[in-house]
Amino acid sequence: MKVCVVYGGWSREREVSIRSGKNVASALRRLGYEVYEVDMQRDIALKLHEINPDIVFPLLHGRPGEDGTFQGMLEIMGIPYVGSGVLASALAMDKIYSKKIFLASGVNTPSHVVPGPDLMKEAEEIPKRLGMPVVVKPACEGSSIGVKIVKTPEELYPAMVETRRNFGRFYVEEYIQGMTATVAVVGSRALPVLELVPKREFYDYEAKYTKGLTEFIVPARLSPEETRRAQEMALLAHNSLGCQDFSRVDMIIRLGEPYVLEVNTIPGMTDLSDLPAEAKAEGKSYDEIVDEILKTAARRWGIL
Ligand SMILES: Nc1ncnc2c1ncn2[C@@H]1O[C@H](COP(=O)(O)OP(=O)(O)O)[C@@H](O)[C@H]1O
Ligand SMILES: [Mg+2]
Repeated sequence: MKVCVVYGGWSREREVSIRSGKNVASALRRLGYEVYEVDMQRDIALKLHEINPDIVFPLLHGRPGEDGTFQGMLEIMGIPYVGSGVLASALAMDKIYSKKIFLASGVNTPSHVVPGPDLMKEAEEIPKRLGMPVVVKPACEGSSIGVKIVKTPEELYPAMVETRRNFGRFYVEEYIQGMTATVAVVGSRALPVLELVPKREFYDYEAKYTKGLTEFIVPARLSPEETRRAQEMALLAHNSLGCQDFSRVDMIIRLGEPYVLEVNTIPGMTDLSDLPAEAKAEGKSYDEIVDEILKTAARRWGIL
């Protein structure tokens, strides 16, 4: 099978995407596939037309690529691909829309407010509705970019003004004190729960990508019942958005109850990333889990 791994592009998460893509490409070569690698530029359609792969494995994090735009192009070109389709990718990339679907599907998620135009008035109302602290977040970023924990009502107005100026659409979420956790979904099963213990205030960009700044504990320190609940919630979140093949669901677990923050439709796949670490806890090597994700997609497209 001829597989083309596409990574890079020009999103804010370009560097991580390259690492994910190169790791997956190496794994696929070890597994015996015929592998091509492309760093996405504006001429990507031309490149793919020349390579003519049986399937594309997109490892693009952020926009464009994880948001359904790349998937739409592949649909037009008639090329099968790994992972979620156009709609699920777009819904997952926009957390304001994800939360609408979560609420309609019984996925537990922190309370939130999407502020209207009058931020001065919102700064007065929001603490009454959500309490303090709150978390101010851009609708469509990843890697904790733009995520701000606001502790006092006085800091809320400036934080919202800055977020609107830098990112456009944003929302304010209830702060959940608890265990930061993430659960990957592969095929139709949830992997073991991974607990993240940031040595910084929260799991920010630095903590995510600097070795040693976060402690990973897998399986997470949860009871079997709490683990089952977190895994069920991850599957429910994945399915509610219509995701396919693989994803990773970020959550905070407070007193055993999972609060889903978001679904990542193209989660990090570097050798140090969360999904491969969860697979390892299940006894699966990096190569084995990559193979499983690819085969899940290939079967779905009827090319295996
Ligand atoms: N409501 C919340 N309560 C407490 N911490 C939060 C909350 N939302 C986000 N965080 C912290 O910020 C991190 C990033 O938030 P997340 O919604 O997953 O956005 P991103 O797409 O940037 O990863 C989380 O892993 C967590 O550490
Ligand atoms: Mg996240």
